[in-house]
Amino acid sequence: MKFFIDTANLSEIQEAYDLGVLDGVTTNPSLMAKEGIKGDENVTAHYKAICDIVDNNVSAEVIATEFDKMIKEGEELAKIDDKIVVKIPMIKDGVKAIKYLSEQGIRTNCTLVFSAGQALLAAKAGATYVSPFIGRLDDIAYDGLDLIEQIVQIYDNYGYPTEVLAASIRHTMHLIQCAEIGADVATCPLNVITSLLKHPLTDAGLEKFLADHKKVNS
Ligand code: E4P
Repeated sequence: MKFFIDTANLSEIQEAYDLGVLDGVTTNPSLMAKEGIKGDENVTAHYKAICDIVDNNVSAEVIATEFDKMIKEGEELAKIDDKIVVKIPMIKDGVKAIKYLSEQGIRTNCTLVFSAGQALLAAKAGATYVSPFIGRLDDIAYDGLDLIEQIVQIYDNYGYPTEVLAASIRHTMHLIQCAEIGADVATCPLNVITSLLKHPLTDAGLEKFLADHKKVNS
């Protein structure tokens, strides 16, 4: 399973990368705004800075919603670095843009996916990744994990190469359950990744080992 970090914060990205388990980054306009990144030049520089930290897979989202503008923006984003994956929303022009960009050899991440039908369209259009938002589904009392299961099944049935990128992950159980279901990728905040480290028996066990070592070595 690939781990992506869902943030535009450079120090969080660096921290996750330094842990040695990071496979990529997902950003979106809200996450960029949270870091105060505005204006085309700053946006480009920020994506470049992210690409300079990680080895691959930096999702950068288009703002345009019309086909012509989406593909132009997508091509510009892809020029920033080979690591860029162009993130396109699941709308009619977005599906066309995914098809077009994929045919140009530009990797895409179809975002804002909330149903199996949308995921099927994204795969047929040639998306590299599909991003079902599980936390936002849970928020409205639907089971986000059921959706991941459905999409994994459908893609397996037909051998679609599109990777299932579980997004809007809120806690470690989401992440573990996505791994059990067979999602290809999970994108989550830094605290969800670092929370995987924690177990009280690990802490208690280490404390005892170090105390016993000290007894005979002091
Ligand atoms: C994914 O690519 C999105 O950026 C993200 O996971 C959305 O998460 P949220 O629902 O916590 O905003």
